Amino acid sequence: MLDKIKALHNEIKHLTAQTADEAEHLRIKYLSKKGIIPELFNDFKTVPNEQKREVGQLINVLKNEAHELIMDLKEQFANTGVKGTGTDLTLPGTLMKLGSRHPLSLVRNEIVDIFARLGFNIAEGPEIEDDLHVFTALNFPEEHPARDMQDTFFIEKDPDVLLRTHTSSVQVRVMENTQPPIRSIFPGRVFRNEAISARAHCIFHQVEGLYIDENVSFADLRQTLLYFAKEMFGEKTEIRLRPSYFPFTEPSAEMDISCTLCGGKGCNVCKYTGWVEILGCGMVDPHVLEYSNIDSEKYTGFAFGMGIERIAMLKYQIKDIRLFFENDVRFLDQFKANI
Ligand code: PHE
Repeated sequence: MLDKIKALHNEIKHLTAQTADEAEHLRIKYLSKKGIIPELFNDFKTVPNEQKREVGQLINVLKNEAHELIMDLKEQFANTGVKGTGTDLTLPGTLMKLGSRHPLSLVRNEIVDIFARLGFNIAEGPEIEDDLHVFTALNFPEEHPARDMQDTFFIEKDPDVLLRTHTSSVQVRVMENTQPPIRSIFPGRVFRNEAISARAHCIFHQVEGLYIDENVSFADLRQTLLYFAKEMFGEKTEIRLRPSYFPFTEPSAEMDISCTLCGGKGCNVCKYTGWVEILGCGMVDPHVLEYSNIDSEKYTGFAFGMGIERIAMLKYQIKDIRLFFENDVRFLDQFKANI
């Protein structure tokens, strides 16, 4: 009896089946009521009492193993849809849940596309920066109060390691390594030590633009920005440039667009002025060019910088900047159509 069980054990280990029918035959042969293994239980009666316990256990192990092996063989054929095994291949598949792009990515891509059409390429720089690239090379004198325009997160002092407060640092990195003509935009994340509210966040995104060549004028700046505004907010959009101050541009300006919501008539988005501010800009200060070894007698250029959140808030009428960072799917789902 023990030998017989052992032999069967070996036998079932090597069973194979090429078709569902063959697998079913094996099941009938070994496991059905009159199959080889249940028959063993009949012989069991003849086993001497003192061996019954051991033999009984072995037969049970054999039966379980055979069951598992043969069921595995059968399973191979179960999902192939062959001979009505229960799978209907004409049924629609399970739908995969589609994600959506983050609104900031959508707006960033749109800005990049618009400037790409004007021949601007993209460059990026590090988020963790030094004082030289964020301030000194951009004409912020040491201890100058203009440094307080942007509250800085310092990581280390002496030498300074800090989180960049604007993407203007990438201007310096590009000018250090490239001679004009330069026509680039620099999208990226920036950090300011500011209290978080509906209108301000300590992390946000900017797109910087830099154009340096011979004979670049303020008129080129204005025309470039007008093109951008019309592409981004619609053909009817108008712009106005207000004098402003940045240490690295001279003259400097802030640009407003006619309010996208009321079209200039006055509403609470534009605080009844008809205009909303969207970016800072100006002609690159000759000091800044010289600092990066660009001949300021030969070359002139313009630069501009805008907040992506601000543009996205205007474009999609989002009232609270914090929504961009919470990643609530009920908010993000609304941008599905805008891939
Ligand atoms: N870096 C300025 C800011 O963050 C924006 C700016 C960029 C202004 C380029 C002029 C030229 O406010």
